[in-house]
Amino acid sequence: MQSIVALLVLTASLVQCASQVPLNDLLPGTVITKELSSYIQSHIQANNVTGMSLGIVLPNGEVEFAAWGNRTEAGDAVTSGTIFHLGSCSKAFLSASLGILMQDFADGKNRSALPDTVAGFNWNTKMRDLLPGEWMVEDEWTTEKADLKDLLSHVTGLPGHDVSYAPDDSARDVVVRMRHLSAAYELRQVYEYNNQMFITGAHIVSRYAGMPYRDFVEQRILAPLGMTSSTLHPDRAFATGNFTQSWTTSQRRIPFFMPERTADLIAGAGGVMSTAEDMTRWIKVLLNGGVDARTNTTIIPRVTFDLATSAISVLSNKGSQLSSIMGYGLGWVRTSHRSHELVWHNGGAPGVATIVDLYPYDGFGVVLLANTGPSVSVTRNIAYKIADHILGLPTIEPQVAREETPAPELQSSPASQSHTLFGFTGTYTNPGYGNFTLCSPIFPPVQECRDVVEDFRMVDAITGRPPGFSDLFAAWPRFWGSHLRLYPVSGSGYEYTAELTTLYVEGYGADCSPFEDVASGTISAAFMMEGGQVVGLGLFVAEKESWRARRGGSVRDRADVWFDKLL
Ligand SMILES: *[C@@H]1O[C@H](CO)[C@@H](O)[C@H](O)[C@H]1NC(C)=O
Ligand SMILES: *[C@@H]1O[C@H](CO)[C@@H](O)[C@H](O)[C@H]1NC(C)=O
Ligand SMILES: *[C@@H]1O[C@H](CO)[C@@H](O)[C@H](O)[C@H]1NC(C)=O
Ligand SMILES: *[C@@H]1O[C@H](CO)[C@@H](O)[C@H](O)[C@H]1NC(C)=O
Ligand SMILES: *[C@@H]1O[C@H](CO)[C@@H](O)[C@H](O)[C@H]1NC(C)=O
Ligand SMILES: *[C@@H]1O[C@H](CO)[C@@H](O)[C@H](O)[C@H]1NC(C)=O
Repeated sequence: MQSIVALLVLTASLVQCASQVPLNDLLPGTVITKELSSYIQSHIQANNVTGMSLGIVLPNGEVEFAAWGNRTEAGDAVTSGTIFHLGSCSKAFLSASLGILMQDFADGKNRSALPDTVAGFNWNTKMRDLLPGEWMVEDEWTTEKADLKDLLSHVTGLPGHDVSYAPDDSARDVVVRMRHLSAAYELRQVYEYNNQMFITGAHIVSRYAGMPYRDFVEQRILAPLGMTSSTLHPDRAFATGNFTQSWTTSQRRIPFFMPERTADLIAGAGGVMSTAEDMTRWIKVLLNGGVDARTNTTIIPRVTFDLATSAISVLSNKGSQLSSIMGYGLGWVRTSHRSHELVWHNGGAPGVATIVDLYPYDGFGVVLLANTGPSVSVTRNIAYKIADHILGLPTIEPQVAREETPAPELQSSPASQSHTLFGFTGTYTNPGYGNFTLCSPIFPPVQECRDVVEDFRMVDAITGRPPGFSDLFAAWPRFWGSHLRLYPVSGSGYEYTAELTTLYVEGYGADCSPFEDVASGTISAAFMMEGGQVVGLGLFVAEKESWRARRGGSVRDRADVWFDKLL
């Protein structure tokens, strides 16, 4: 089953083989040779990346920077001081923050009190004790037993319900609504990436740090490290004049996906904006066990650093000739690349593609920040290429297959479907997700459907996509998209593909032609009939086989998200 390409993504894949050669004798400032730079230039060009910034921390502590492409439509060049959104490379700032907060409590420096039920505040502290009355999920055992370590290592059993939250939700709204979202697995059964748990983690910091999460990160991590161009406040990033603009992988400029009003909601999952220069300061601390060597002060408490960067859950249980199995810590993946231990994370969002690679035993690290996304394989490939160069390993490529966005199957459905199709339109509701109204481009639109049908028509007219007889549209303001497009899976009347998309009917930036950005990928969907009537719609968001899928039954029984149709 297809599932949503989780935004603020982490995707991992590796192929091919190689042998190992000893570390190069690198002179400072010589990693990015002319050849390597032109390779990177052509790689980003071929993948439509508008601009990218690179920072390297070498084993001797020297740093090196390089940049390619533009940060504005006007053609201003990206530099090492250009500010980018980090995407999910922000997640490591949450685990560090929670560790710092735990240390505050241990040292008696806390500014608020924990509930009486919390005996000690550490990574084994139960969610239920930390968030009494708020933390509740479908599975009773998980409600009772899940702890902070489970929360940030993606093993709570909840699949990514990234379509369930809206721009105006607060982090607390996301936490409290979780009880209405279905779990796909039991606690600690499988790894499945979940942004909402990082939203929850930031909510805990805000609740007990005596200040909002975003201020805590700025005061306790960014400021002491001298990351003066970094912030979690978009308004401040914009005010510098150094913040990059953003693009889709089809080369359309888009607005920044995280305006100030939504920044607090998503901050724990992906809310940090930074530069290649600042990120080398962060990398130095990470290569030094969480200690800032300049001042000999501990930024990330040792217990948290060790836990965060080691394997807690299993992300990938098989290695390849290039890479070992992959474990997930707390905002970090641990694996090896060509027999060199590697701790890394990537980030992908509309207009964002990032990666941070740390080679702890070789003593170097790489950060790549790009303004086009979510093209995660581009930064992955280039970061490997750079590491191979530093390690003196022979070239192999491509290490990760180029990202392929499957083209939607454009097809008209048989006319016999028109009867049932009529029954598909209408309003659907789920307590965890809210309501949306499906509209048909074919049937004479009811008043509330006129605008949405017209908006899709304008976007599709540009691409030449034929109006699908069985297509269904909804305007549904979500965090990761503005509209929902449903089109039938070929050969079936009830099975659909759902896309969360963002429509730009007036274009954006200098180009006024309409377009859409389906950065958030596709979800399998299916309608269900009962007694000749459409009774609801199921969405399948779990990446692996859920307990519901194993049990079988009707769409209502199997779906990860069930919407009742309002009659
Ligand atoms: C960068 O801007 C220059 C000047 O406007 C333009 O010629 C070039 O095509 C742009 N490059 C990219 C990758 O957009
Ligand atoms: C610090 O935390 C402890 C344990 O929850 C609590 O007893 C104490 O009152 C807190 N201090 C402040 C200033 O809130
Ligand atoms: C913008 O970037 C330039 C070049 O890196 C730097 O000199 C300047 O201080 C930055 N502006 C702000 C407000 O940070
Ligand atoms: C690059 O953008 C063009 C549209 O400008 C698109 O046709 C092409 O498929 C894109 N290529 C990649 C690799 O995304
Ligand atoms: C750094 O701090 C640690 C712990 O506080 C201490 O043991 C060590 O001697 C210090 N090192 C330097 C170089 O000051
Ligand atoms: C969904 O629609 C139902 C019925 O009209 C209404 O009672 C409910 O409040 C709506 N929920 C939301 C979140 O809008």
